[in-house]
Amino acid sequence: MTFLEAMNIPAAVNASVGAGRSVISLYIENHEWDDLRENIVKKLREIAGIFDVPAPEVAVRDLEEASWRDAWKRFARVYRFGSELVVKPTWRRLRKDPGCPVISIDPRMAFGTGGHASTRLCIHHLRFIRRKRPDCLESVLDVGTGSGILAIAAVLFGAGRTVATDIDPDAVRVARENAALNGVAEHIRFTMDPLREISGRFGLIMANIFESVLIELLDDFKRRLAKDGMLVVSGLLASQGGGFVEKASAAGLRKRRQRRAGSWISYVFEAAR
Ligand SMILES: C[S@@+](CC[C@H](N)C(=O)[O-])C[C@H]1O[C@@H](n2cnc3c(N)ncnc32)[C@H](O)[C@@H]1O
Repeated sequence: MTFLEAMNIPAAVNASVGAGRSVISLYIENHEWDDLRENIVKKLREIAGIFDVPAPEVAVRDLEEASWRDAWKRFARVYRFGSELVVKPTWRRLRKDPGCPVISIDPRMAFGTGGHASTRLCIHHLRFIRRKRPDCLESVLDVGTGSGILAIAAVLFGAGRTVATDIDPDAVRVARENAALNGVAEHIRFTMDPLREISGRFGLIMANIFESVLIELLDDFKRRLAKDGMLVVSGLLASQGGGFVEKASAAGLRKRRQRRAGSWISYVFEAAR
């Protein structure tokens, strides 16, 4: 899975692991598959060589558009974050009241079901910040909001002024709809403004994007961070972590915490004094 995510393949993905056999299914548009097939087969062979296992079989089957677009929905799960938050897809029912806030999310084609390690790492940092530095929640900026999940979680955790931005107009639309669905639309200002054009400073900035974008945005993160504010970044592979922390330090950000899930790593920074 990590390999497929790291390759940024524009497809719905699910995986199942059986005795001695793993199956990864990708739902890809026909015209995209033509470009991707060679690359996927090549990378899988390389990986099989590294781990000295047999090269995987690749099988292709045509599906009706409607069935593949929704195929991933069968695999979407309910995620619990301690006793503080539950994130569930809109189409799943909870058997009993969990006694904590519940986010119901329909990500459509935007990113953010709560299923990806990089999102979950952010939510764990958010729980920590809520407990230890609730003052940071007075103003929150979610950069790369996707489905809106992190901005919605922040508001359910008591955030004040909350701004959420994304460069993808579909994501902004979906995030707005999810905020409305969860009764927090009036608490979040959604925008497509790039980070450098967003005014004000924020007690908490969260950004779950990928390495190259996070590096590009470092100076703007620093500029938009309130004096004692916290910056949560996620979307980095563990192998990218050290280099990223060095660059963040050069941009005036000091690492406060880190958390790892599988091959993904996520950090909390504050402005260096
Ligand atoms: C990995 S998703 C994260 C979604 C959600 N925040 C989560 O944690 O699940 C990254 C999002 O960042 C957006 N993005 C990429 N580059 C960006 C940039 N320079 N500024 C704002 N958003 C950006 C993408 O469109 C995508 O929706």
